[in-house]
Amino acid sequence: MRLYVNIDHVATVRQARRTDEPDPVRAAVLVELAGAQGITIHLREDRRHIQDRDVRLLMETVRSGVNFELATFPDILDMACELKPMQATLVPEKREEVTTEGGLDLSNEATRARNGEALDRLARAGIRTSLFIDPDPEAIRAAADMGADAVEIHTGAYANARGHERTEQLHRLREAAVTAREAGLAVHAGHGLTYENVMAVAAIPQIEELNIGHSIVSRALFTGLGEAVREMATLIRRARDVR
Ligand code: PXP
Repeated sequence: MRLYVNIDHVATVRQARRTDEPDPVRAAVLVELAGAQGITIHLREDRRHIQDRDVRLLMETVRSGVNFELATFPDILDMACELKPMQATLVPEKREEVTTEGGLDLSNEATRARNGEALDRLARAGIRTSLFIDPDPEAIRAAADMGADAVEIHTGAYANARGHERTEQLHRLREAAVTAREAGLAVHAGHGLTYENVMAVAAIPQIEELNIGHSIVSRALFTGLGEAVREMATLIRRARDVR
């Protein structure tokens, strides 16, 4: 199980003042020293947090691997193909959303075609590809047909649910993980995962990578970034051990 830490929110704090601190490039060093297996960043069309400069510097300085989240905007796709991160995750993006609201709607022909072309380009550039999708069997089959290396299953509905509804959402995640693995896809998961809800997801055996940002960066304000990463890594390890 790999923990990839999404450091977008370090950049969010910097952009609140449009200054030069805190620097996500420095944050990435601390995240790696604390034992995370990789760094995740999302370069959004509106550049609300991560900037082009961050991507370029992170590509030069990160020693583990960069998971580059992007939507199919031509300039961002060009940048990914030029810089060749270890992995690219295609996500849907809307300007008005606060965060990525849902997975890619691969039942929509135009979305499937656009993302399929992007996926082919990324793969031709030698980049490992992942598609961010909801825990839906149709979307998983579409991702496999499109030739993705991996899917990242959206855990937001699980994270937002309470009580019985949460148990149901967890069941959906488990089924989706099995379906994806059977379809030959590597299985990643993320969105809305916290110290409180991560263990049940980390215990799903097919999942090999978690992408977690907001909760870790929030805790880091109180404990420091290294400690926040180590605490999350400990919970994930414990979930795998007791499985
Ligand atoms: N995975 C994807 C595809 C995302 O878009 C995000 C949010 O940027 C995350 C994981 C991390 O979500 P969170 O910040 O809620 O941990």
